[in-house]
Amino acid sequence: MRQKTRAIAIDGPSGAGKSTVAKAVAKKLGFQYIDTGAMYRAVTLGVLREGIPVDNEAAVTEKSCRCSISLQEGIGGTLVFLDGEDVSEEIRGPEVTANVSAVCSYGGVREAMVAQQRAMADGGGVIMDGRDIGSHVLPNAMLKIFMTASSEERGRRRHKEWQEKGISMSLEETIEDINRRDHLDSTRALNPLCRTEDAILLDTDGMSVDQVVAWIVRQWQQISGEEGAHDLSFHADHR
Ligand code: DC
Repeated sequence: MRQKTRAIAIDGPSGAGKSTVAKAVAKKLGFQYIDTGAMYRAVTLGVLREGIPVDNEAAVTEKSCRCSISLQEGIGGTLVFLDGEDVSEEIRGPEVTANVSAVCSYGGVREAMVAQQRAMADGGGVIMDGRDIGSHVLPNAMLKIFMTASSEERGRRRHKEWQEKGISMSLEETIEDINRRDHLDSTRALNPLCRTEDAILLDTDGMSVDQVVAWIVRQWQQISGEEGAHDLSFHADHR
């Protein structure tokens, strides 16, 4: 049997709250947080900026190998750099969001990103979120979680986020977009979104962020036998 990687893999559909939760868990445990969705988003931004049609697989793949993407811990969270430029805000906009599913469906793009993601996780002590982390990127992660919530709940969360950023999109449109991306992400040929048998299912409907974070930290402590490195002084109890 292969040795387990000291890592937490979180997979799940769009808007399930993976990144908010993963960031907070990373802080509690002193882990590095790796947002793999942000990497696909950064490639998509690079593609759009160059005016490459997203349906041109060869050109998109070539661009993904040519651009340099890096993640850095900032004060307010992870910063995403594309060729040295901070694009953390821009990659969350509707244009990138509308095109990222197409870009990330290409094998060459995925290969380039997965190689970088595995290298980042090499030393262990990471929490990584995405769609194929437990199934493909880190199949030996010590803890795997499949985090989900109903599409209505996820739509409401995403809609609130858009509103806070001043982006106008109706709740119905937002839910429709979530459903469309769920479908694309889970039916694509390569490493689609799926729950592996060894992943714990976590339905976050009706749970607060603090409750989800506390639950994951507890799972980690049970599985690894480790205490968190940092602040474990919260007392959320649930479930
Ligand atoms: O989590 P997110 O919404 O930022 O992800 C953006 C897109 O990237 C989404 O359409 C799914 C895709 N993705 C993927 O295919 N594999 C990953 N490991 C992470 C994200």
